Amino acid sequence: TRHLLGIKDITSEDIQLIFETADNFKEVLNRPIKKVPSLRDITIANIFFENSTRTRLSFELAEKRLSADVINFSSSNSSVKKGETLIDTVNNILSMKVDMVVMRHSSVGAPHFLSKHIKANIVNAGDGTHEHPTQALLDAFSIREKLGDVAGKKVAIIGDILHSRVALSNIFCLQKLGAEVMVCGPITLLPKHIGSLGVKIEHDVEKALQWCDVANVLRIQLERQQIKYFPSLREYSLYFGINRKMLDRLDKEIVIMHPGPINRGVELNSDVADSEHSIILQQVENGVAIRMAVLYLLAGAK
Ligand code: CP
Repeated sequence: TRHLLGIKDITSEDIQLIFETADNFKEVLNRPIKKVPSLRDITIANIFFENSTRTRLSFELAEKRLSADVINFSSSNSSVKKGETLIDTVNNILSMKVDMVVMRHSSVGAPHFLSKHIKANIVNAGDGTHEHPTQALLDAFSIREKLGDVAGKKVAIIGDILHSRVALSNIFCLQKLGAEVMVCGPITLLPKHIGSLGVKIEHDVEKALQWCDVANVLRIQLERQQIKYFPSLREYSLYFGINRKMLDRLDKEIVIMHPGPINRGVELNSDVADSEHSIILQQVENGVAIRMAVLYLLAGAK
């Protein structure tokens, strides 16, 4: 059974195939009838143990555009609240003849664990601080769309790298596609091992902006912080928050990205998030085509 558990496990050829398939689906999504029959014999369960707006809706829409049957589960209003385990929950859902599972979980490795116990295809929709593969694919696809290619581009990932699954999947994906990657943030929000991943490290946000072609700006993830980290949100916005004046001081145009949800006024000011530099909503639009491509390829659809 094939899965998409992380970008670490796939090749640059796999990524290119996903992009070429997503190109075709993007063309379908621009037609008056945005639907194809490819997965009409497939049933997909979206199983979310953590909150989500973009990823959950984007997967659901991708599945419906492919004509799959879709069921949605969110742990907050389920029998998980009565103590049911992950495996029991998933096996009960699978006994309703489900072929594919899209799963988000707060624990690192939850979808990997599940993949050893169930027969359905699994797509990781984010596991704790580990990986968020479809986010990285849609981010790189959006860079390719905006700048023509990912290879040779300089991408700075700026923010709370320590608690971010988006950062890790982005680093793997961008490097596999031949981009140069920098991480920028306060030292307390960078993982200790980050240097071993072959990324540049920067603590001065203006230097990072000066270096890069693309700034992928990440949120401070207070919900994952077990202890009170320095800096506070106010301190973070003072020293690392990106505003329009910083972009105007650059001697070049850069592309601004953010996976969402944005903490406006903390990591990104509205005069940047809503500016002509930003491709934030194009990222969300591309998410549907990318997820259609991933589901289509995993299902081995014709
Ligand atoms: N980018 C992203 O994963 O957003 P959600 O948490 O809203 O799905």
